[in-house]
Amino acid sequence: MKYNSLISFGAALLLGVACVPKTTQPVYLDRSQPLEARIQDALDRMTLEEKVAMTHAQSKFSSAGVPRLGIPELWHTDGPHGIRPEVLWDEWDQAGWTNDSCTAFPALVNLAATWDRNLARLYGDCIGAEARYREKDILLGPGINMGRTPLNGRTFEYMGEDPYLAGQLVVPYVQGVQSNGVAACVKHFAMNNQEIRRTATNSIVDDRTLYEIYLPAFKAAVTEGGAWAVMGSYNLYNGQFNCHNKRLLCDILKGEWGFDGVVISDWGGCRDDDQAVTNGLDIEMGTWTNGLRGAASDSYSHYHLARPYLERLRDGRATEEGLNDKVSRILRTVFRTSMAPEPHDGSFTSPEHFAAARRIAAEGVVLLKNDGILPLQVPQGGKLLVVGENAYKMMVVGGGSSNLKTKYEVIPLEALHEAFDGKAAVVWERGYVGDTTTVYNKVVTGQNLRDSRSAEQLLSDAVAAAADASCILFIGGLNKSAGQDNEGTDRADIVLPYGQDALVEALAATGKPLVVVNISGSPVAMPWASRVNAIVQGWYGGSESGHALVDVLTGKVNPSGKLPFTMPLALSDGPIKTERQYPGIQEEGKKWWQEYYDEGVFIGYRWYDTNGIAVQYPFGHGLSYTTFELSDARVKRSGDGWKVSARIKNTGEVAGAEVVQLYIRDTEASVARPSKELKGFEKVYLHPGESRSLQFTLTRDDLSFFDAASHAWVAEPGEFHVLLGCSSADIRADVPFTL
Ligand code: BGC
Repeated sequence: MKYNSLISFGAALLLGVACVPKTTQPVYLDRSQPLEARIQDALDRMTLEEKVAMTHAQSKFSSAGVPRLGIPELWHTDGPHGIRPEVLWDEWDQAGWTNDSCTAFPALVNLAATWDRNLARLYGDCIGAEARYREKDILLGPGINMGRTPLNGRTFEYMGEDPYLAGQLVVPYVQGVQSNGVAACVKHFAMNNQEIRRTATNSIVDDRTLYEIYLPAFKAAVTEGGAWAVMGSYNLYNGQFNCHNKRLLCDILKGEWGFDGVVISDWGGCRDDDQAVTNGLDIEMGTWTNGLRGAASDSYSHYHLARPYLERLRDGRATEEGLNDKVSRILRTVFRTSMAPEPHDGSFTSPEHFAAARRIAAEGVVLLKNDGILPLQVPQGGKLLVVGENAYKMMVVGGGSSNLKTKYEVIPLEALHEAFDGKAAVVWERGYVGDTTTVYNKVVTGQNLRDSRSAEQLLSDAVAAAADASCILFIGGLNKSAGQDNEGTDRADIVLPYGQDALVEALAATGKPLVVVNISGSPVAMPWASRVNAIVQGWYGGSESGHALVDVLTGKVNPSGKLPFTMPLALSDGPIKTERQYPGIQEEGKKWWQEYYDEGVFIGYRWYDTNGIAVQYPFGHGLSYTTFELSDARVKRSGDGWKVSARIKNTGEVAGAEVVQLYIRDTEASVARPSKELKGFEKVYLHPGESRSLQFTLTRDDLSFFDAASHAWVAEPGEFHVLLGCSSADIRADVPFTL
């Protein structure tokens, strides 16, 4: 029996059934009452001090409720890929609980590579259930900043370089999380596109670029996904820190998009007493991120939105109306989560969650090149030589705030042993030593990664082991250590570290069949691409990463992942050419680093395609073990928009999925437009010989650019093209039409 009905039942016994009032408790406690009535009722009962207490942290990951009224605290948790281990009250380090090892889901870049809205929903459903089980109210994710530079250390936590792709995937993710009574906190709003000097850089972006590239995924999360929380980012925009940035938070998020949820600062991102009050921030978290050790002994009461706020309210520099707006949003979050009309129990580390993690990880693996060597065939009794640290190294730990403690992690080598058990010998040679760290925020992997061999010795041992091998499988790439895929640092280049290029060349020179698996969360250069037989892009796949990768290598799963970003040939080919573009410059009289987004809307494939610059592998690229034929592409006017139709057929021998991508090209425009922009995609699973018809709808908005002068989306009359294909470079149908 629920608390509600217990009270009514008790009252009924005392008063006699006939005269029992329908509600015997305050409106705010009655989960069946309308949300806004509950908020108003709670607000009316609160003191000024109780309200202010709700607007800032009380511990590393919680903010206060109202104990006197039975309104619970809000518990926040990282992160986008799994539920962070419990930490000490005021520390980043895990608290050492033994019941908080989670399911680690694949990194968000891996989810983006699935190009699958249903899998994004599944991801959200599962991670939301894990958060709810752990009694967390706000999940600090997903991250949807755009891949402006491949060097960004947090590329692995985001959803690629295209605003439409990220927008399409963030909506079901958010809805899935929130269906569990957990708020998704979309981050980091906005233009947090690098880690270098992330708390001291002012992004200078024109409005067209802002609205076309850096805002759409956030807008989709809020207006279509109905996100209940948004996290401000560390950097500045327009000279104001984004955790209290008037234009971003008041004018755009809460104004133009009508966001009714809560704005949370990034940890330590709130920097100013006055702006914290007036510029759209609702909960201040993590100021002096070392908590009590970094500031006065009662550090939380020194927060910008604590004592200084109370003083302003008392002497009239801040209004109670403004405070009520913040507290209403916080109460709305409480009544949507821990005090929601329908309570949820959640579930944790269930077999279903691990199965979902495996499926998402596998569907995001991208087959970049295959001369027919894959799926992997090793003759009975033969030897599969596996080379590379990433075949062995556990990758769930590390990387920054997305660091997790998982119940288990299947490494690729273990999965290969399972797959080839009784069929072939699987022999591992490390080949190079990269990162030997095995502890992060006191989460311990238990692996021993020390190796005393010299780089030369490691390489020659690997080459020697190839002599009697039937096939070589190299599994290398990046990891989550500083300067690689890691929060707080960026990479220096896209070249593979630890001498891996030389190692791959040496393995190729043995003449043995060679498959290269690159495990990374961001683009890397592949100068050896033409000298290897196959290349697979793997990611940080979470608990089931090894199984997922080997499922694809062995053909148990037919690869269907597509790159969510461009793989360039070299860093210098990209749109970022100057220091003022990245990582920013210091200017006379300016306190913060200034960074100019001079490339405008031309990031990722928008840059490479428009300028005809060759790339290693294009955005949207990914092969299959079968083949597909696209036909019958047509564009038809329909009401205010257009209907695009086509047919896709599996012309090969095995079942598989293809992602058909729809790009728009505007051939006559008064502004410089990219030669193509993604406006639709469908992932279709087909049996051999099966075909299916596809339908896409285009609106005027899909043809528009953002006109800064009129602050409006403009579709100019003239000729457009619908480009349908299987990557941004593999366009199979080009259909012109006129607006
Ligand atoms: C990160 C956020 C994270 C927060 C709490 C910050 O450093 O930028 O993404 O959610 O810490 O761990």
